[in-house]
Amino acid sequence: MAQQEDQFKKIVSHAKEYGFVFPSSDIYDGLSAVYDYGQNGVELKNNIKRYWWESMTLMHDNIVGIDSAIFMHPTIWKASGHVDAFNDPLIDNRDSKKRYRADVLIEDELAKIEDKIEKEVTKAAKRFGDSFNETLYRETNPRVLEYKSKYNALHERFAQAMSDNNLEELRQIIIDCEIVCPISGTRNWTEVRQFNLMFKTEMGSTADGAMSVYLRPETAQGIFVNFLNVQKTGRMRIPFGIAQIGKAFRNEIVARQFIFRMREFEQMEMQFFVRPGEELEWFKKWKETRMKWHKALGMGDQKYRYHDHEKLAHYANAATDIEFEMPFGFKEVEGIHSRTNFDLSQHEKFCGKKIQYFDPELGESYTPYVIETSIGVDRMFLTVLASSYEEQKLENGEVRTVLHLPAQLAPVKVAVMPLVKKDGLPEKAQEIVNTLKFNFATQYDEKDSIGKRYRRQDAIGTPFCITVDHQTLDDNTVTLRHRDSMQQERVNISDIESIIDKEVSLSKLLKTLV
Ligand code: GAP
Repeated sequence: MAQQEDQFKKIVSHAKEYGFVFPSSDIYDGLSAVYDYGQNGVELKNNIKRYWWESMTLMHDNIVGIDSAIFMHPTIWKASGHVDAFNDPLIDNRDSKKRYRADVLIEDELAKIEDKIEKEVTKAAKRFGDSFNETLYRETNPRVLEYKSKYNALHERFAQAMSDNNLEELRQIIIDCEIVCPISGTRNWTEVRQFNLMFKTEMGSTADGAMSVYLRPETAQGIFVNFLNVQKTGRMRIPFGIAQIGKAFRNEIVARQFIFRMREFEQMEMQFFVRPGEELEWFKKWKETRMKWHKALGMGDQKYRYHDHEKLAHYANAATDIEFEMPFGFKEVEGIHSRTNFDLSQHEKFCGKKIQYFDPELGESYTPYVIETSIGVDRMFLTVLASSYEEQKLENGEVRTVLHLPAQLAPVKVAVMPLVKKDGLPEKAQEIVNTLKFNFATQYDEKDSIGKRYRRQDAIGTPFCITVDHQTLDDNTVTLRHRDSMQQERVNISDIESIIDKEVSLSKLLKTLV
């Protein structure tokens, strides 16, 4: 656990050091849970978005995109249920004046018990060596069993309180577990209250009568309220989808784990409108399609799992998360929900206009059902960064820090380097840059030793480095170095483009999804 935390800290500082992610307002000591993307981060982020966007809109002739505004009519959030129910339970410590999410305090307590079990197992594994039977130990060791039973009892009580929305019981659990405030160390807790996560602001001058509006907490509602606009102007026939990428805002009480939980973040959402009764079949299809999209990046199939929801939101009739193994455990990256006709019906009720689809094949009108796929860009970014980072021990004893980014997502695809800064090598290298740059993000680098330059490119995940030397001037060949294997080969300049393209091409990656 400590090792994983350590690894995570290294990833966060690497992200800053190499221009991927900076704390927002850094020179003012940052703004909690808000981050800026640097020169490499923005390229990686754009590539993730492009991969998603093209997998939706290019690969499906029945999916189109939109870009709706962040500000929306406030009644939309009443209709969607966000005004009344988009809440987290919070609790304050009277001594430190710090505010916490009550559910997170209890989840941390559960994690502590899990930690204790893992520690017992690790200790025993060391003690027994090769003869250690982990499964048997977990099933029979009295101390492990005691912890397990404590965990199960607490988990059950907690799940019940959450499901009943029982704030008093949440507080009682905190008291009974003797959970203390990490700052003051005391148990002087207030009552638990509901806290709405939406940011509110004023639109228009007060003289005109300002209207309270919200910063959208999800992009999905922009799709629902444009359902008829898109369906009619695009002459879309069900089944069809609308995709959108955009910013969302949530006043998260507990903001931690870097870009995993942010107050300003980006979502990639797609609402797929289907005939009532066919939604579960489509849910199954989208579940598979989205998992395939993740796995095609080659970050390791074993790092993904589904988490099917047992308890469903009142508007859903099926829901699952795609979880990824982060340095802090398996966590949700994407949600896939069968949302019935809840949202469209609610908007119909609140706006007073008919929102229906006339199905020419059935000869009848209905409110379409919806399958939603919703993924956070920043969380996806974190999965890519975390799974790519390696401090690799080399044969000569040195350690290189390398990002094994999927080549299609790498911010820089190829770096071109003259071996020395003279004899016409920089000019030749520039010539190569000038041909490659129209197809690939290309960097020119002539500073420091060639070894240092390779390391710099490894650290930002550049899949290819090209070195121009004196032989290049004679026979038009260069050294091509591969990031992961560090192998070098002599290739003709005229072959470079096709070699690089084979690995970094987004369209080739998209073809693997078919
Ligand atoms: N329209 C459905 C919806 O918004 P959600 O599970 O609340 O569902 C979808 O969010 C995805 O958005 C999550 O799976 C996650 O990737 C991302 N996300 C949600 N809250 C986030 C936050 N505070 N910071 C970063 N990403 C977040």
